[in-house]
Amino acid sequence: MIQKPRGTRDFFPDELEARRDSEETMRRAVSRWGYREVATPEFENLELFTLRSGEGIIEEMYAFQDKGGRDIALRPELTAPVLRMYVNEAKVLNKPVRWFYFGDCFRYERPQKGRYRQFWQFGIELIGADTSSADAEVIAVGYDLLRSAGVRFELRVGHLAMMKSLIVDLEVDIQKKVRGCLDKRDYGALHEVLPDTGRADQLTALIESKNLDDAFAITGAIPEEERIRETFAILDAHEVPYIQNFGIARGLDYYTGCVFEAFAENLGAENQIMGGGGYRLAHLFGGEDTPSCGFAIGFDRVMVSRGEESPRRPVTVAVVATPEGRIDSIRVASAFRKAGVRTITDLLGKSLSAQLSQAAKHADYVAVIGKREVEEGMITLRDLSTGEQKQLTIEDAVAGVVGIGVS
Ligand code: HAM
Repeated sequence: MIQKPRGTRDFFPDELEARRDSEETMRRAVSRWGYREVATPEFENLELFTLRSGEGIIEEMYAFQDKGGRDIALRPELTAPVLRMYVNEAKVLNKPVRWFYFGDCFRYERPQKGRYRQFWQFGIELIGADTSSADAEVIAVGYDLLRSAGVRFELRVGHLAMMKSLIVDLEVDIQKKVRGCLDKRDYGALHEVLPDTGRADQLTALIESKNLDDAFAITGAIPEEERIRETFAILDAHEVPYIQNFGIARGLDYYTGCVFEAFAENLGAENQIMGGGGYRLAHLFGGEDTPSCGFAIGFDRVMVSRGEESPRRPVTVAVVATPEGRIDSIRVASAFRKAGVRTITDLLGKSLSAQLSQAAKHADYVAVIGKREVEEGMITLRDLSTGEQKQLTIEDAVAGVVGIGVS
């Protein structure tokens, strides 16, 4: 038996319907903020991802040469592709651009619960607005989307300027290591990485600070202070509950400003359900330097977090027939489908009783067409939840089911 590749999943109908349901809910929520959907190719020129992150990132990607000898990568995320798309068309776009996306990404990671090699991201990018209102809007949209999807989570918001102000004078190599420790939330390792313990203590105090005044008392005055204070105030006005955390460093190295992450309450080790922040990428792809802000939600983690709750199944009719009723049953089934009702017929030539017991498993109504029904031009409609049965014309049966289906 051939197996699926490591780190990938198949989705059976129940699971896929639940996923589509959540996807739709999130699409509706993001549309309310004026974001419109875009799509980009699943593979890109490798360079798009190495330009900012360096060759090291190739290890974490599905990268290969195509038959023309071009270096290609399956997208590990959608921010770089969406920004490439923006740069290609930037001149004709009205700024700020509000885009969202839902698509699969590929990372060559060690699979475990909640971490896959093919996974889906639902994200937004707000391009061309460099204000505290823009930062706050993006965070508020992320909060709204996760809430609407039924996830219980904690939102942590920070700003890279705070942490950077404490390490800016150190060698770039050490700065990178510090960010690495913070990203892994391995705060103990700060003392090993940083030569003087005073600085490690300062960073630890910054990470643990509970309000802005305490945090600025540690960093001293920094140029971003007003922007940070405003962003937090606007978030409060959006009524978004969050926890301040100036230890957020983010794994991807394109972030420049505000950074935020959300952690689901009921997931295990892989509980980061959303990550995002302000960044600049457009100039790297040949465009003008453009401030942007965005996030991506790990859609697979949303599905695990919201649990087994299955979506409402559409009302289903099983049309069952004796051999005399078989041809009429096709017409009856068509009438239900034309009215938008999910309708199933027997394809295996089963007996009436076998068709009825099959119907009981997946239908809400059974439309029976036997010899008598054919002669009288009627159908027998049985409501499987109540057992109630009526003889009706096709039109009345369809109207009855549709009426109940939409109520
Ligand atoms: P990221 O933090 O790398 O950010 O990924 C965003 C989310 O994708 C994570 O919080 C996590 O929920 C989910 N995720 C990541 N890797 C996996 C995996 N292997 N399996 C399942 N879920 C995963 C980004 O990708 C940025 N592009 C976000 C962004 C958008 N920043 C600005 N705009």
